Amino acid sequence: MFEWLSMARILHVIAAVFMAAPLYMLIVVGERGAFGRRIDAAMDGYMERIVSGQPRRCYAYVAVLFFTGLALLILTGQGLAPVVTNWTVALKVVLTLAVLGIITYVHMVLQPQVNHLVASAGTEDVAVKVWPLRSLRKRLAAVCLFLVLTIVLLGIRLVVPYSAATLLLFLILAALFAWRAFRVPVPWGFG
Ligand code: HEM
Repeated sequence: MFEWLSMARILHVIAAVFMAAPLYMLIVVGERGAFGRRIDAAMDGYMERIVSGQPRRCYAYVAVLFFTGLALLILTGQGLAPVVTNWTVALKVVLTLAVLGIITYVHMVLQPQVNHLVASAGTEDVAVKVWPLRSLRKRLAAVCLFLVLTIVLLGIRLVVPYSAATLLLFLILAALFAWRAFRVPVPWGFG
């Protein structure tokens, strides 16, 4: 007999772990700052290639999170009603859609412009156009990091209910952490 509930939980948590990407992308682009503002086609091309591939990976993880999230509701006997009747579940879904929206904007709008500019770095001075786009992308990554942490906090609350005060405390810590990761590549992990 398959342990469907355990399997759904395992997949849900593993996919959630892989959603740490905004943190690691912030670290990658944060470390880029040490090399000055001049755009180098080889070095920046390498970094942009890593960053460019991230939205597609995130789509895959979010798809797993959606399916296993809904499966968890069904397998725990609640049916799909909590998606609209339980504010914690509803908020998780809405925030996940917000993350998808940000990822899609970066993937479809921002990233192609950055890639195009970096590719022409050898022939023209593109730095003045590239950095504002990167700055916006970095801001969006920090927002994504905060949203992912919030979704995780809400998810844990579904399994181990805890007070609104504790939720608020950790939301503040999540916001501080996202802000810190936006500013520096968190050399000590938590700060
Ligand atoms: C949008 C669709 C989603 C739905 C419907 C959903 C639903 C759920 C449900 C029902 C639980 C409780 C699990 C249980 O009873 O064992 C849960 C837990 C959890 N969710 Fe989600 N979730 C969604 C998205 C996400 C996303 C995007 C993340 C991470 C970025 C996430 C991270 C977690 C975590 C960490 C837990 C706690 C697991 C545990 O402690 O066992 N979820 N989710």
